[in-house]
Amino acid sequence: MEVTLGGITLRNPVVLAAGTSGVVGEIGDAIDLRKLGAITTKSITVEPRMGNQPLRMADLPKGMINAIGLANGGIDDFATNYAQKCKNIKTTLIGSIAGDSIESYVQVATAMHDIKGIDLIEVNVSCPNTSDGLEFGSCPVKLAELLREIKPALQSTPMIVKLSAACGDIRPHANVAIESGADALTLINTIPAMGIDVKTKTPLITRGIGGLSGPAIHPIAVRVVHEVYRDVAKNAKIPIIGTGGILHWEDAAEFILAGATAVGIGTASFINPTISIKVAKKLSAWVKRQGCSSITELVGQVH
Ligand SMILES: Cc1cc2nc3c(=O)[nH]c(=O)nc-3n(C[C@H](O)[C@H](O)[C@H](O)COP(=O)(O)O)c2cc1C
Repeated sequence: MEVTLGGITLRNPVVLAAGTSGVVGEIGDAIDLRKLGAITTKSITVEPRMGNQPLRMADLPKGMINAIGLANGGIDDFATNYAQKCKNIKTTLIGSIAGDSIESYVQVATAMHDIKGIDLIEVNVSCPNTSDGLEFGSCPVKLAELLREIKPALQSTPMIVKLSAACGDIRPHANVAIESGADALTLINTIPAMGIDVKTKTPLITRGIGGLSGPAIHPIAVRVVHEVYRDVAKNAKIPIIGTGGILHWEDAAEFILAGATAVGIGTASFINPTISIKVAKKLSAWVKRQGCSSITELVGQVH
């Protein structure tokens, strides 16, 4: 079940997605993180951010809508209060970073790189819930400018780039990310959406529009992974972390067949924090049933 992302070996392909398992894996109070391939931190910015006004999460029949707005304590707080936790975490750790300018991304990347225990760094250019969250992710030219500055700041730490499906066809963005040094891609982040309470005639969350996640976005995420793998990542030999709407092992298997090397799980952990561990176990049984000696043999094997 081992897979490799940017030269780092994960014990299995199941990754907890950014912002859904605590700042640094607080979900580990409820589950054994050693059974997962990796976990991702909350996206960290240079300055502390309060995030959006509550209500900022709402439950939907096929997922959830959130507009947390990258609430986090900032990189100084992270370095002071979470460095020890990063060092002691019992699985591969992906540090997620966000920003509002090239300078701020580089600053947080540099500081994150200095923290022991962070094995890979994920550049979040795909947050739909802040005014600046998609600034770089939506424009290939700006994305290239950003990543070319971040890459040297990370030195040998592999760089994952997390893209959004909200920008239409993202194959050009994926191509630019790879040309600018991405060692892996995470596809996808939440998708801008809105829900309205018909009794009160008000949006379900205070910001009005938020990001949709969970099973409702899964087929979109599978399509994006398939297209990016087939047309961009396969030839470049760059792995994809397929993320969006995994609830059952079959959803994860779909991502692998579509071209993902690893899979990200977010919303499912809010339903039951043990789902990711069940997915990892059942994915392993599926690989055995296929007669494969490694899950990597199944990557991109959709007919
Ligand atoms: C409450 C919540 C907070 C999130 N925070 C972040 C974040 O800080 N950074 C990020 O890159 N993605 C964030 N995401 C997006 C998830 O990492 C993931 O890409 C998305 O939810 C799709 O996966 P899922 O359907 O399994 O949840 C967040 C999602 C949710 C639901």
